[in-house]
Amino acid sequence: MSNISRLSIDNTNMFEKGIGDRGITDNDIEALSPKLDNLRNEIQTWLNSESQTFFNLPFKTNVKAIKQKGQRIARDFKRTIVFGIGGSSLGGEMLVRVLGDANPKNIVSFYDNVDPSTMITLEDTKWDETLLLVISKSGNTAETLSQFLTILPVMEHDLGYDKVAEHVLVITENKEGALFQLASELDIEVIEHPPVGGRFAVLSVVGLLPAYIGGVDIAGVMEGARAMAQRCTEDDMLENPAFYNGAAQYLHAERGRTISLVMPYADNLRFIVNWFRQLWAESLGKIDKDGNHKGLTPTEAHGVTDQHSQLQLLLEGPDDKLITFITDPGFRFMGRRVPLRFQHIPAVKPLAGHTIGELFLSELKATRTTLSRRGRPNRTFALLERDAYAIGELIILLEMETIVVAELMGVNAFDQPAVEESKILTREYLGDIKVVSDMI
Ligand code: PA5
Repeated sequence: MSNISRLSIDNTNMFEKGIGDRGITDNDIEALSPKLDNLRNEIQTWLNSESQTFFNLPFKTNVKAIKQKGQRIARDFKRTIVFGIGGSSLGGEMLVRVLGDANPKNIVSFYDNVDPSTMITLEDTKWDETLLLVISKSGNTAETLSQFLTILPVMEHDLGYDKVAEHVLVITENKEGALFQLASELDIEVIEHPPVGGRFAVLSVVGLLPAYIGGVDIAGVMEGARAMAQRCTEDDMLENPAFYNGAAQYLHAERGRTISLVMPYADNLRFIVNWFRQLWAESLGKIDKDGNHKGLTPTEAHGVTDQHSQLQLLLEGPDDKLITFITDPGFRFMGRRVPLRFQHIPAVKPLAGHTIGELFLSELKATRTTLSRRGRPNRTFALLERDAYAIGELIILLEMETIVVAELMGVNAFDQPAVEESKILTREYLGDIKVVSDMI
């Protein structure tokens, strides 16, 4: 088991030593330790479970089988289109966008919406060279089913009825679900979705298959994930990075910092935020057993662009945010230098001779310092932006932090009971619209 970490976490500015009396202390964190005893037991159960759990995915997922399947797809098709929503899309898309091949042999695109003006663009797809991957754990999600059922006649027209099954692959768990039934009726291959909720399923076939097709080093991701999972089994609050970081965020939330703003200083890492936002919002936004509305609101800003948009608010607006920066220290050596020849112009002088990367990182340092001087808590993750191992570490850390915060807030991280109502209403409202049957 590798214990190497390639993910550096600088927490100083969440603590008294970084931001003075608005910060917390290690003692505050240690005081929460008894509240995590149940979770300590659960972690062992998840780790040692025979069946797949989100926490043992890095150890149990059959990466070899995913690679074999992915190699065949990448060989036979030039393009892969993924239909799915929420956890059935965001993890795979994050991996492909952050770590995928810049010049892929097989281009993987994700469609996670039913905006008709976006869906219509698929009508020009060259289906003879395209695989459609339909992902839905429940197999009953209206958006995913509608995407598939509306594109199916187009595929049948372009490929011929008997060829469609060769161009579709389904990932689902629920054998009673509509997607499973459709796959059976159409003779489409089904890969089993693990018994893990979508937003915690990125390290299974759900995220890894599209990622591998898109050129991601999935073995590297899993190696980093295993190393971080191992660290997250530590009992000691100060040694377990998820306990430490989760408890720190909880303590700041208790002091009113209930907005979790993630600010990557790395354009390529922005897609981590999309995935994280769902993980954090859907896992934490709940009513606890005493009827209290709980939750921390995830939001984002992009460095440096949003220094000219949101930084003023972050510095002098309400003290209700905890900021997480994500960056790549390697930027320092990247980018062209500003030429020296215009240094006689006062505004150019400080820039002259420096790389664009040096400017980028100096701006991050300045943002962190100005926030910290005002007692605004922040932390920084540093990793090489295309390092699969470090991204694997980050995925497990963010998942486990989420679960730690949920445990401390007294909510269940794994369900989403309230969204059912909107799903039921959608079907009801559709029922109110008359179907013009002779047009179908
Ligand atoms: O994380 C979750 O559980 C949800 O966001 C689901 O992934 C999302 O609702 C899609 O569900 P399904 O995979 O059943 O289509």
